[in-house]
This record gives sequence, structure tokens and C-alpha cells, in this order.
Amino acid sequence: MEDKERSSFSGSLGFVLAAAGSAVGLGNIWRFPYLAAKNDGGLFLAVYIILALTFGFALLMSEIAIGRMTKSSPLKAYGQLSSKFKWIGFFATLVPFMIFPYYCAIGGWVTKYSLAYLTGVGEGVAADGFFGGFITSTTEPIALMAVFLLISALAIVSGVNKGIERVSKILMPSLFFLIIAIAIFALNISHTENGVTRTGLDGLFVYMVPDLTNVTPSHFIGVLLDAMGQLFFSISVAMGIMVAYGSYFKDSGNISKSVIHIEFFDWLAAFLAGVMIILPLYVFMGREGMGVAGPSLVFITMPKIFTAMGSIGSFVGIAFFVLVFFAALTSNISIMEAIVSSLMEHFNISRKTATLAQTVIALIIGGIVCLGYNVFYFEVKLPTGATGQILDIMDFISNNLLMPIVAISTCILIGWFVGPEKIIAEVTKNGEKFYIPRLYSFLMKYGAPVVLTILLFKSIGLLS
Ligand code: PHE
Repeated sequence: MEDKERSSFSGSLGFVLAAAGSAVGLGNIWRFPYLAAKNDGGLFLAVYIILALTFGFALLMSEIAIGRMTKSSPLKAYGQLSSKFKWIGFFATLVPFMIFPYYCAIGGWVTKYSLAYLTGVGEGVAADGFFGGFITSTTEPIALMAVFLLISALAIVSGVNKGIERVSKILMPSLFFLIIAIAIFALNISHTENGVTRTGLDGLFVYMVPDLTNVTPSHFIGVLLDAMGQLFFSISVAMGIMVAYGSYFKDSGNISKSVIHIEFFDWLAAFLAGVMIILPLYVFMGREGMGVAGPSLVFITMPKIFTAMGSIGSFVGIAFFVLVFFAALTSNISIMEAIVSSLMEHFNISRKTATLAQTVIALIIGGIVCLGYNVFYFEVKLPTGATGQILDIMDFISNNLLMPIVAISTCILIGWFVGPEKIIAEVTKNGEKFYIPRLYSFLMKYGAPVVLTILLFKSIGLLS
């Protein structure tokens, strides 16, 4: 029945907001600002935009077109294009399957902090050692992970149109409202310490203005690779998600315009996250404060900044964590949809059964991830040089290993076997314009596979 009457987004707006909901996630908030600050702000932003309009555009459009062309879940779609490449579908489904449980675990942490700020006990979570104490406890993180997972499952089980689209249409505008409000607030703060006053505007200067004495060719290549790695993670390609969402995109919808809109929203959210985070970090902690990324930025450093802001900090804290919650939730929903659509198609089961099955599986694996900080605690050294627990191992395998493999093989499949002209034909079938056809073919055949292979080697530690 799903197939005869395949559900779909009601129009381009619904599709764009859902896809932007997937794209705008924790990566925009805890990784982009840090990378931008590290790589000369303005320079990183400019490089990122150029890569987004070329490489990002090519990959995102290919995946959405593959979805719309095949009207299949990620598991089946690649095999329909070429039976030799059926295995990409397996990997493209394995990635969200691996990411989902630990994204839910982190979603549980975000839920905890949102609730703490909403109930007025934000100061408590800012205390030294709170975060460590929280994630090493055995019950609370699992319970909150379950809450976050169940909210996502509720959206999925309600369907593409009544669930995913409706949630995105409410949460995405709210997210942008909050991020703009906090960014404006951040521009207006100042703080004096040891006779030195730093303002939000000084922070903006530090965030955005490149130090051009730095820009040697090797420095520039570093900026380029950082921007490229961030871009692929951020626009949610190479994990089946955009194939699944593309399969629900109406045949009359405009793919190239939608891709530009999705990328614009993703970039805007990342840039504003930088304003919202880097400025207060600089104002309250100086330059040393700016070098944090990842969970400790969101769960340790930011709460301390909110406390330092005084009484208004508790309001900013509420806005911040509700915003992070929305960002994490819409991304989590997209990960779950990629898995559920594959389960439905492969086992020929209903949306309800597939959602229930995936919820149970994720509760078990996610529970193990949470217990990785206490009962199952161990430390491993990852090929990237970092040490980590179960969550970090799953993150490494999915992000550093499987995602580049899926991305590279998708390019080879399109560039050399299916032919870029087929994708172009799908995108332009309603007479719409394809902005960069020649560049697109070049990128899919040569540009993207080469650059992505370099990134793969770099991310598994084979290149420094
Ligand atoms: N694109 C999301 C971000 O920038 C991350 C994400 C990862 C989304 C995995 C979906 C799946 O945070």
C-alpha cells in the first residue's frame, strides 16, 4: 500500500524544511563554530560557501535525484541504478543504523539540560564535574535517551506528511528565531575582567577577520580539508537520508532550487551558531576559551558562560538548549526515517511495525552506548589519535570510515556507470534550470572522488 500510494512531502517548502532539519544539527552547533574560529573565520566561511555551491551541491543533488528517480529506500535505490552497486545501499543504511543509537544518547543529554534550564536549575548543571557525574550514572542517561527516542519515533510513525513535515514546519522556524535572537544578544554583551573590557563586537572581529599572515599554501589546504569534511557531515549526505527524503519529493518539485535553499539554511544556521557561541566565549573567556568543540563545548563550557552572564543567563540558557534540542531532534528524525524506510521496503512491513522494531533495537544499542561511560567503561585509542568509549568508536566507524566510502562510491556510480546526464535529466525534467552541468559531471567523475579519497585517508589517520 505504501508503494501504490507512496507518501510524500506536500510541496517544496515542506521538503526543504525537513531536509534542512536534517542538515542543521549538532554539527552546526558544536563543530562549525570551532572549525571557523580555528581556520580564520572569514576565510573558512568563504571557502565553505564555495565548496557548498560546488561539491556540496553536486552530492546533495545526486542523492535527492537518486531518491526521486528510484522512489526507493536507500537500501534498494543504489541497486536499482546498477546491480553491481547494490552494496552501496547496504552501507548507506548501515551508517544511519550506527549513528542513530548514539545520536539518541546525546539527544538524551540535550533533553536533560533543556529540562534543567526550563525548570530553573540551570546553575546546577554548570557546576564543576556535573556533566561527568551525569553521564557516568547508570539510569538517568538511559531514561532520557528513551524519551528522546520515543519523541522521534512518534514523528516517524505519524508518516512523512503528518509527522516529519509537520514537526519540521514548526521546529525549523522556531530554531531560526531562537538562533537569531541569541546571536543579536551575543553582539550586545560585554564583560570586564582585570581591567580589560571585551565586547561582542570584538568577538565578532576575532571570529570573522582572517589573519592573512597565516595564509600559506599548506595552511590553505588545511582550511580546505576541514571545510570539506564539515560540509559533508553537515548536509547529511552519504548516509541514505537524502535518498530517503528525495524519494518522497514530488515529481513536480524543483530539485536544484531546493538544494540551494537547504544549503543556505544549513550555512546560515552554522554561521549564526558561531556568532551565538564564539562571541560569548571570547567575551567571557578570551582567546583561550575559543578552542573547544564537541560535547564539552555544549555541556560544560556554555553552561559556565550562562552562569557568568548573571540573571539573564538563565533565559539565554533556556533559549540555547531548546534550540539545540530542536536541532538534534529534527536530525534524529531524519536518521530514523532512513532506517525505517529501508526496513519497510526490505521486509515488506508497515511503517508502524518498522518504527517499533527500530525503536526496540535502538533502545538496546543506545543503552549499551550509555553504559559505555560506567558499566562497560574502557578506553581505546582511535586511529585519529583521540581516545574514546563505545560512542566514539561508533562515531569513528560511521563518520570517518563508512561515510567517505559511501560518498566516493556514489560519485563513481553516478560519474562512471549511471552517467551524470541521467541525474541532470531527472533534475531538469520539468524544464527547470541546472546551474552547473559541466562542472557537475567533472566533479562526480574526478573532483569529488579524488578529494574525498584524500579526506578518507586523512580521517583514518593515514595522512597527517
Ligand atoms: N547534518 C547533521 C549536523 O550537521 C548531522 C547528522 C548526522 C544528521 C547524522 C543526520 C545524521 O549535525
